[in-house]
Parts: sequence; structure tokens; C-alpha cells
Amino acid sequence: MTRSDFGSPPRDGRIVILTGAGISKESGLDTFRDANGLWSRVRIEDVATPEAFARDPARVQAFYNARRRGLREAAVTPNAAHRALVALEQRWPGEILLVTQNIDDLHERAGSEKLIHMHGELFKARCLACAGIMDWRDDLESTTLCPGCNSTGGLRPHVVWFGEMPLEMDRIYQALADCDLFVAIGTSGTVYPAAGFAMEALAAGAHTVELNLEPSAGPSAFAERRLGPATRIVPDFVERLLSDR
Ligand code: APR
Repeated sequence: MTRSDFGSPPRDGRIVILTGAGISKESGLDTFRDANGLWSRVRIEDVATPEAFARDPARVQAFYNARRRGLREAAVTPNAAHRALVALEQRWPGEILLVTQNIDDLHERAGSEKLIHMHGELFKARCLACAGIMDWRDDLESTTLCPGCNSTGGLRPHVVWFGEMPLEMDRIYQALADCDLFVAIGTSGTVYPAAGFAMEALAAGAHTVELNLEPSAGPSAFAERRLGPATRIVPDFVERLLSDR
């Protein structure tokens, strides 16, 4: 029996979950491509590429400073969907890997532990001079001193920009090749390599599920799809997975 013969994952199967901006929307954080999303207000080429940072570092820093402040607001807290994934991690007997495209820290604030931030983290900075990566919750300016090497001008947000390689890809592709169930939550499926994960998992014989407000773009690699707000459909899906055991 191959893994694709299972209509749902084996009771202790391996699960990979991919999340996108949609899971944090009901926590008060904007998505990118919905009407009024971040990319409707600012151009990717101006704030989210290495070329933009080389051309106008102050503008790029200002964009991420504003997002960092937004993430520090007291009203921005993990929601029921983040919490449901913690319950799944704690109660599922098999292996689980949570891969997020989000640079917010709502998964870890909720309590998720087996987590990869493939697009980096807003609350971290990286120094171009010494390559150090450090926790960072305040604004970054071109005059900010790196605590590691004392140079100025080298600190940048530890986020993956367009044209840069996402993080921990070997680990992610290995988990996709081995998984029995792949679940994508709140992502439009427009940005590769994450947009190709469902196809990778399907080709490896996994059951593939999309949980989203609206269907993601392009030809679907999903065997199952549930539409609705993440705070409703993610807890429902997790409850069903755990009760099917
Ligand atoms: N519940 C569930 N899904 C939602 C909700 C909600 N409340 N609100 C919006 N969504 C869905 C949208 O329908 C859409 O499919 O979330 C998805 C958001 O898509 P994008 O804005 O494109 O975000 P994402 O897929 O995470 O973007 C991928 O692009 O520029 C970047 O680097 C950035 O990591 C990001 C990447």
C-alpha cells in the first residue's frame, strides 16, 4: 500500500503544515494580495528586494520598522487557528512540521515549537558586516550599531526578500518527501517555492488539503479543500483529525 491509498492520513502519520498571511489576518495583520493588502499600497520592488535595500535603505527600513511596530501592538495576539495548530502538535502521535511564510511571531507566541520561518522573522536582524543574527524588536536605522561587531549601516531585517533563497529548504523538502498529509492554510499560492509544496507532497503520495478563505491560484494540487475564515476552519479541521484517531 502506498501512502496515496489513504483517503486521510494514517493515524500516526507525518504531517507538514504550510501557513501564509491568511492565518494571521484575524489577529489584525494585513495579508499581501487581498484587496487593500500590503502589496496594493506599496510596490514589492521598492521595499522587498536586495536591490531596493541597496538603492534606498531608509525606505526599506521604514517599511519594516512600521510592520515591527504593528506586530508589537497589544491587540495583535495569536488567534484560534494558531492555537489549534499548537493543540495538534501536542496531541498528534506522529511527526509534525509547521512551515510558515509569515515573518510574524504569532505561531511561537501561541506555543508552536516545531516551526520553520522560511521567509525569516520580523523580530530578528542580520548584520551584513559580521553575518550575526540577533533578536531585534526596535526600529532599525542606517546608523544603528551592530551589537556583535560595532559597525553601523550593516543591520537589515532578517527577512527573505524577492530574489533571495528561503531558509531551511533542505529540511522542508525532506519533510515533504516523507509526509502523509500536507495542509496549506491561508496562502494564495502565488510565491514559489512555497507555492510548489502541495505538488511535491502530492507527488510523494501524501493527502493534500487546502484551508483558505478562497481557493489559491493556479492548477490545484489539493485533494481536499475547505473554505472559510481560518479561526473557524482550522480548529474544525484539527478537531476532526484528532477525533478520527
Ligand atoms: N482566513 C483564511 N484565509 C484568509 C483569511 C482568513 N481570515 N483572510 C485572507 N485569507 C487568504 C486569502 O484568501 C489568500 O489566499 O490568505 C491568503 C493570503 O495570500 P497572500 O496575501 O498572497 O499571502 P501569502 O500567500 O502568505 O504570501 C506569500 O508573499 O510577498 C510575500 O513574502 C510574502 O510570505 C509572503 C508571500
